[in-house]
Amino acid sequence: MNLELIEWSQREFSDLPWRTKRSLYHTLVSEIMLQQTTVSTVLNHFERFIQKFPTLHQLSQISEDDIIVEWKGLGYYRRARNLLKIAKMIDSKFQGEIPTNYDTLITIDGIGPYTANALIAMGTNQPALALDANLERVLSRYYGIKEYKGQKLQMELQKQFEFGKIASEINQFGARLLNEALMDLGRVVCRANVADCDICPLRNNCIGRKMNPLSYPLKKEEVSQKFYELELLRVIVEKDGKFLAYKKKE
Ligand code: ADE
Repeated sequence: MNLELIEWSQREFSDLPWRTKRSLYHTLVSEIMLQQTTVSTVLNHFERFIQKFPTLHQLSQISEDDIIVEWKGLGYYRRARNLLKIAKMIDSKFQGEIPTNYDTLITIDGIGPYTANALIAMGTNQPALALDANLERVLSRYYGIKEYKGQKLQMELQKQFEFGKIASEINQFGARLLNEALMDLGRVVCRANVADCDICPLRNNCIGRKMNPLSYPLKKEEVSQKFYELELLRVIVEKDGKFLAYKKKE
């Protein structure tokens, strides 16, 4: 990797609000919002949410109904319930302090490996690799790792992070800047179906570019299955001046 990547990311994206005002709490909220939602949509909601709930403790005091209302426009409401569950647990079990150790973070219901690593890398700048689909794709192309996306590729990348090439990259550039730059690259340059190699800051040393970048990572035969989240929260029927309200359950 190179400084050009980090400089490109900082030039283009360092003004994202969760990057300008850093805290573990801001990282937690933004990371949950950014799962399954684009940066541009999150930009419309993040700051208002933080203004309304400036601290994890304040967030932890609200009800599920309240957070669902505040989450409006972001979709995938399960994440809102998850975030509240996380906040309540951290408030009660950890005195409102978000833990910074992987083994502790992972015990919190609602925090998985990705979120734990994102909190460590971006929230504390300690060595960690927040492996989401973007990072899997960018790293498998850059290092030319011919592996099926998902668990096997993640294990290989995690190995490279612990013992191999990625460890020294993180030491060189810092976990925060490197993770964010790779996320930016995956989002706008090294995309799933389009790789803009000519403008990529990593173009000179990328193995995937010399082959066919779109062939990384390997993909299993697509099973044609689609999942839709039911977004409807209320059904209200009015008859003879009376109202019947149905509220979606968990
Ligand atoms: N996607 C997930 N986390 C992100 C972050 N911190 N910045 C940009 N995109 C992201």
